[in-house]
Amino acid sequence: MFAVAAVSQSTSDPLSGLHVGELADPQVPHDWVSVEVVASALNHHDLWSLKGVGLPADRLPMILGCDAAGHDADGKEVIVYPVIASPCWSGDLTMDPRRSLLSEVYPGTLAERVSVPAGNLVPKPDGLSWEQAACLPTAWLTAYRMLFTNAGVSPGDTVLVQGAGGGVATAAIQLGAAAGLRVWATSRDAGKREYAGTLGAAAVFETGARLPERVDAVLETVGAATWSHSVNALRPGGTIVISGATSGDAPTKAELTKIFFKQLRVIGSTMGTKEELARLARFVAERGIEPQIDSVLPLAEARAGFEKLAAGEVVGKVVFRS
Ligand SMILES: NC(=O)c1ccc[n+]([C@@H]2O[C@H](COP(=O)([O-])OP(=O)(O)OC[C@H]3O[C@@H](n4cnc5c(N)ncnc54)[C@H](OP(=O)(O)O)[C@@H]3O)[C@@H](O)[C@H]2O)c1
Repeated sequence: MFAVAAVSQSTSDPLSGLHVGELADPQVPHDWVSVEVVASALNHHDLWSLKGVGLPADRLPMILGCDAAGHDADGKEVIVYPVIASPCWSGDLTMDPRRSLLSEVYPGTLAERVSVPAGNLVPKPDGLSWEQAACLPTAWLTAYRMLFTNAGVSPGDTVLVQGAGGGVATAAIQLGAAAGLRVWATSRDAGKREYAGTLGAAAVFETGARLPERVDAVLETVGAATWSHSVNALRPGGTIVISGATSGDAPTKAELTKIFFKQLRVIGSTMGTKEELARLARFVAERGIEPQIDSVLPLAEARAGFEKLAAGEVVGKVVFRS
């Protein structure tokens, strides 16, 4: 079938290992269900896989992609939940130490078809387009859990989102604003700062800029480059929720003294549960939120989307139509 896959890995030239074309149908567990993919979306995770992070070379070739929406075998419109539990796990899949994401152990979503356990499908609300639905399973779900499960904030509180242009960050801005939070955002890029304002950010700042007041929570996905700023931006007792480290996971200063002196909470966050994905989809549909889509490309032109993401030029999500 037609698919986008990692066939080799390189930290310096990750796109050299990208295959876009026909691939033999992969082996999947016989009791899984198949989804005909209508739309899929790109994540930074796919670039990490091409760099050899989180995907051992002995699993290549591997079909990439965590996000998809499509039709199940009965023709129902579904969103794919991409977290795969280990065999004996029950409960919150994000707590399963041996869980995987689609494209880590089992073939991913950037293909004509994807297979998952029957329990990994969520109904696609009628109000969502295929492209919008395809944005939700990874970046939007991660932002939802960061904001509403882990940040401990209430409407009216101020939340700082670092790296405004990113997939998780744009989702957090849109979700936070829709839920009545005062969202502030930082970006290195003037155009992305302006855009964050149109997505609902109440104020935007250059990366690292001094803020007019301390915030209740910070959402971190940038990592090393913004860590000190995140710690400094918080009020005493505030919360950093961290789900990624695009710029590296070894900040020059760990800021341990400030963390204990200000009694900050540092909360790790990863993906979300299937129930959170279902609630997110309903929230987005019922509030009429339009997920920020950078571009929609035919799957056959996936390489252009990867190039844009690798160059840091994306604002929101890159979506593919099968
Ligand atoms: N734990 C999870 O479940 C989970 C889920 C999704 C994503 N993630 C991780 O979260 C991170 C973000 O994912 P994403 O899909 O949102 O990625 P993305 O769309 O590529 O966004 C990354 C953003 O980080 C900012 N950035 C990158 N390098 C920077 C630097 N040196 N200094 C300042 N800002 C920098 C950029 O913002 P500006 O250009 O606006 O400054 C960029 O838009 C990735 O590392 C990803 O692996 C984790």
